[in-house]
Amino acid sequence: MSDQMYNEIVMDHFQNPRNMGRIEDAEMLIQVGDPGCGDSVLIFMKIDNDVLVDVKYKIYGCGAAIATSSMGSVMAKGKTLDELLEFRAEDISKALGGLPPEKEHCSNLIASALHAGVIEYRANREDPDKEPLPEREESSLLDRSLLES
Ligand code: FES
Repeated sequence: MSDQMYNEIVMDHFQNPRNMGRIEDAEMLIQVGDPGCGDSVLIFMKIDNDVLVDVKYKIYGCGAAIATSSMGSVMAKGKTLDELLEFRAEDISKALGGLPPEKEHCSNLIASALHAGVIEYRANREDPDKEPLPEREESSLLDRSLLES
């Protein structure tokens, strides 16, 4: 698929992605991958009083994955954790003015990561003995190249 198939909003978020990067003191760090294409996103979530006050990400993915992660991060910031669980991949592609049908699945990456982050965050609060974030950063579950990029 050539980039000409993307509309102007998608191209803008692809070429000027918002919120890309990392948050050093994030409450939640979680990586989600798409086994179908091998793309993945690592998100950093700053949570205060059950609100996502900041979110950043590192991504290894296609143009649509970058654009949807950018738009998804913009839309997610300021939402409550309950609202994030209602947040759907379709909301992101709609906000981008639509994606080519074969690229619709790319918006699942950031939406799934946000959902997983909320679920994991809540599980951690229920089990405070779980490994703290620094140890988890060393986990083989994480793609080191994403963390170091
Ligand atoms: S092709 Fe993998 S997320 Fe777009």
